[in-house]
Amino acid sequence: MNSLPANNPEWLTKKIIKDGGTISFYDYMDLVLNDPNNGYYGSGKATLGPKGDFVTSSSMSDDFAFLLSRQIDEWLIQVKSKLIYEEKLSILEFGAGDGSFMSGLFQYLFINNKKILKNVCFIIVEPNKGMIKKQQKKLEKYLKLGVEILWKSLEELEDKSLNGIILANEVLDALPVERIINLKGKLYRQGVSIDNESGKLFFKELNLTKELEKSLTLAHEKLDINIPPKDAPEGWTTEWHIDNKSWLKSVYEKINNGILLVIDYAKEAKRYYSLCNSNGTLISYKNQKIVENVFEAPGDCDLTSHVCIESLIYDSETLGFETLGIVKQGEALLSLGLAERLFEIQNELKNDISTALFRREALLRLVDPICLGDFKWFVFSKFNKKIKINTSCIR
Ligand SMILES: C[S@@+](CC[C@H](N)C(=O)[O-])C[C@H]1O[C@@H](n2cnc3c(N)ncnc32)[C@H](O)[C@@H]1O
Repeated sequence: MNSLPANNPEWLTKKIIKDGGTISFYDYMDLVLNDPNNGYYGSGKATLGPKGDFVTSSSMSDDFAFLLSRQIDEWLIQVKSKLIYEEKLSILEFGAGDGSFMSGLFQYLFINNKKILKNVCFIIVEPNKGMIKKQQKKLEKYLKLGVEILWKSLEELEDKSLNGIILANEVLDALPVERIINLKGKLYRQGVSIDNESGKLFFKELNLTKELEKSLTLAHEKLDINIPPKDAPEGWTTEWHIDNKSWLKSVYEKINNGILLVIDYAKEAKRYYSLCNSNGTLISYKNQKIVENVFEAPGDCDLTSHVCIESLIYDSETLGFETLGIVKQGEALLSLGLAERLFEIQNELKNDISTALFRREALLRLVDPICLGDFKWFVFSKFNKKIKINTSCIR
């Protein structure tokens, strides 16, 4: 994959030229996703859900939020009672997309634990203004009902100010990544450049930065991850998640007592950095279809990559998080009552077969291993005293 046909918009050409004609792949991904005027999320162009470009679990139907809310409710009650905590707790969601999860959480709490609403402050950390607008629109009804929802940047939160639950569903897979390529026995950082004649984007090799070299050495020493793997062919390429550790660190610093749930596409290191996986996991979605060419329609489609399981756990634990468990989404949702939910839907919607079928199909996709069921739920905790937390999603 060196030079690929691309629809290279003017705004991007200008940025690349302004930066000297070549930018790192990391900067390219950051621009096409987060540029405030033209980025997919930055400008708010992203459309999630069955009628959008791609589905996330929360945007598919409210049943995902219903089941996950059971878990959040269970954790909140324990955090409050075991810490004998009198002040307000927080539920913080990173990267809330179009606001579907929060909206589903409120629906659940209004029906099942209305009392708790007064004792919880809801926070969304969303860097993209375009997405904040979508979230505010979706949650307008609850804001009018007086529910406290705050949109904040992480920097605005004081250190050790969070007591409660922190959720990041499909957020780490949207953080920009570096791409590393093996060429003639040497590793390079992939950059993105523009062909002068055709105006098309192409990959251009750059030297590894000191930061990347350090990060690769650490992964080798601590996790036995070899980049490239032994006998890697010419052109073997992988993503490298250079931001995960600093993201986890900034979250860790804000928590006083709490549980962090990260949900994402994830692969074990031995499968991720293997000979079989010779071009990483980077993928783009448009109109519910996979777009293989990562230079196609920059700023008009999603760009996403899997996280590495061992690296995420290592980074979390070295910061001080305790890993309460890791479970596949399919298993987690079954433990939280997905089968009963299916039964309830059939009974509730006896006279509305098409809605019942739609919701049934959505629930099944959430547990289907070749669909969203293979996502991993990583449950980490940070408490300043030893307490035992029951976690129904992990059996
Ligand atoms: C794939 S969407 C996930 C949407 C949502 N969590 C859901 O379940 O439907 C990625 C979201 O993460 C946001 N995002 C991107 N970078 C972020 C960051 N550094 N911190 C928090 N959110 C971020 C995007 O703007 C977008 O809202």
